[in-house]
Amino acid sequence: MTAFAAVDVIRAKRDGGALSDEQIRWVVDAYTRGDVAEEQMAALAMAVFLRGMDARETATWTGAMIDSGSRLSLRVDRPTVDKHSTGGVGDKITLPLAPLVATCGAAVPQLSGRGLGHTGGTLDKLESIPGWRAALSVDEITAQLNSVGAVVCAATSGLAPADRKLYALRDVTGTVESVPLIASSIMSKKIAEGSAGLVLDVKAGSGAFMKSVSEASELARTLVEIGTAHGVTTTALLTDMNTPLGAAVGNAVEVAEAVEVLQGGGPADVVELTVALAREMLALAGLSVDPARVLASGEAYETWCRMITAQGGDCSAPLPRPAHVAVVEAAGSGYLSALDAYAVGVAAWRLGAGRARKEDPVQHAAGIRCLAKPGEQVTEGQPLLELHTDTPEAVPAALEALATAVEITDKAPEARELILHRVS
Ligand code: URA
Repeated sequence: MTAFAAVDVIRAKRDGGALSDEQIRWVVDAYTRGDVAEEQMAALAMAVFLRGMDARETATWTGAMIDSGSRLSLRVDRPTVDKHSTGGVGDKITLPLAPLVATCGAAVPQLSGRGLGHTGGTLDKLESIPGWRAALSVDEITAQLNSVGAVVCAATSGLAPADRKLYALRDVTGTVESVPLIASSIMSKKIAEGSAGLVLDVKAGSGAFMKSVSEASELARTLVEIGTAHGVTTTALLTDMNTPLGAAVGNAVEVAEAVEVLQGGGPADVVELTVALAREMLALAGLSVDPARVLASGEAYETWCRMITAQGGDCSAPLPRPAHVAVVEAAGSGYLSALDAYAVGVAAWRLGAGRARKEDPVQHAAGIRCLAKPGEQVTEGQPLLELHTDTPEAVPAALEALATAVEITDKAPEARELILHRVS
């Protein structure tokens, strides 16, 4: 590989130029090996943040991050298809979606992460199930995909190590919120996972990375372009994240809600998004099964139990209960016109559902149950939110986060669409 001087690569991007494929491959590889210093990569990340990267540069950057590690080669006898969400509050969709799509005939290798900040992590939620184990070997993943059809587990350490290093650097240098850097980070891990098809749930709104629909659309387009450039059939749904998804936000509470959905019940918005994403995934897998019918039948619940049992979990064991519950009541009567996703996410995090540093533990029983959804009529004194925690001293800070989260108006709010549009 041609070697470059890191400072020349930084200067080229700082001055608004496009980096060559050779420069990108070299800098990502040299950074992963420790030959480009952290401060040089920090400067380059900031130059990319300020100047952007075009579609070619972003696809090459993604390829270089994939090549920094190994690709999973899954020997599975069904079509493989995966889903990734850019993260939101109450987003437990992976939990019902993976067993649903597996029940419909595809294989779903869902390598997931832990939560950091106000959005929860799928692994933290599943670890509230007694005995459940996140770490699987590649052989265990392959065996479970062939026997059950769905695996939700921790990403193996060999997948895109350049991203792990770069993400930690971006986190402390104010360079996370860059479309090419976010898109290449997400897609390097997903493409290295080896699925033939990928469906993205790109969230827009207060509880999401991308606050506006236009930023989220740009991210969705970039993600789909990268997938296509790397031969992975990719589609994206742009979905609203101004209010929490479903009624539960946290760990065990979200697992309980996912189980309700798998048993044919659950909140309408969680069911709607689960079915819409399942349709996209099944279309990519070439399967013409109606996921709405399968979900309503409760068959996917049996697959869920097999998936949990295969990873050491007891799907019939009671989930952890909080030591303390506090209630937020409606301050007036009228229509609940807003329940802010970001505020609810921060409050759940302060109650102990999330972590501030990677090494912190989470409380499995902590979280929030939203007892009313925007659009519903409420009366003064009616319980609106239930706060769950094992550490009651956390409640005042959670209440502070919720101070402006609830809006009650005389007039009914306009109905909001959950699924805003599709990008393919
Ligand atoms: N998720 C990722 O994996 N990477 C980012 O940069 C942002 C969200």
